[in-house]
Amino acid sequence: MSKTQLFDLDGKIAFVSGASRGIGEAIAKLLAQQGAHVIVSSRKLEGCQHVADAITAAGGKATAVACHIGEMDQISQVFAGIKEQFGRLDILVNNAATNPQFCNVLDTDLGAFQKTVDVNIRGYFFMSVEAGKLMRENGGGSIINVASINGISPGIFQGIYSVTKAAVINMTKVFAKECAQFGIRCNALLPGLTDTKFASALVKNDAILKQALTQIPLKRVADPSEMAGAVLYLASDASSYTTGVALNVDGGFLS
Ligand SMILES: NC(=O)c1ccc[n+]([C@@H]2O[C@H](COP(=O)([O-])OP(=O)(O)OC[C@H]3O[C@@H](n4cnc5c(N)ncnc54)[C@H](OP(=O)(O)O)[C@@H]3O)[C@@H](O)[C@H]2O)c1
Repeated sequence: MSKTQLFDLDGKIAFVSGASRGIGEAIAKLLAQQGAHVIVSSRKLEGCQHVADAITAAGGKATAVACHIGEMDQISQVFAGIKEQFGRLDILVNNAATNPQFCNVLDTDLGAFQKTVDVNIRGYFFMSVEAGKLMRENGGGSIINVASINGISPGIFQGIYSVTKAAVINMTKVFAKECAQFGIRCNALLPGLTDTKFASALVKNDAILKQALTQIPLKRVADPSEMAGAVLYLASDASSYTTGVALNVDGGFLS
């Protein structure tokens, strides 16, 4: 009996935003391990190159590309480059997001509001539009949006961030419904509290962490690598009949 090929990504081209560290790095490394050529992206090229070098040193295929997903011209440029270099895109993981202000919702600063919307909503949306056009030309693909449990149950003092994550869950359904006819699937991952730089204000503060753990049935935070398996499932043929879902990977928080 031979092993399943359902999770193989040989010959696939995958783009992962926010892949220089944290959850995105773990996703990029697992997709490459399964055979994909991974375009490792974030704002700063140096961190991406470091991850791409680690992938190639381990025998995988990777390219580092800088792209600020809050800047429309950078999104256009990056997709022009993908088209020229690879001529196709099979997997897009929208993972890079921002959360610049922790405060009561009544104290929301207009600049922080705008930045959060530009990156977390407009960025995910137009990255998906550009990727979708390329995928349509090649008969299909898989888009995975890293949303958050906050998109279902808002985090305290994370008002506008939580609003954008709810929008990402709805955006996922929009692309799933309208792009299914092109062979494109679109699904969301909803991570729970994960030990990254992004969550360090929560994870590294003993009092906050203790309080958070009371709400997590598994009684621990996640390691970034624990998000990657779910993304591999959504990226690969193993999920060929799955589209429009929001998959909680949260230690039971939302249950
Ligand atoms: N950690 C958690 O507890 C948690 C929970 C729920 C959901 N999430 C979600 O998981 C995703 C990844 O978060 P993480 O915890 O892995 O964060 P992280 O460790 O801080 O990594 C963030 C990544 O995004 C990049 N980035 C930030 N702003 C960007 C922009 N405007 N354009 C392009 N790249 C950008 C960063 O690199 P540069 O600085 O080089 O740009 C970095 O590679 C986010 O969507 C977040 O909302 C995280």
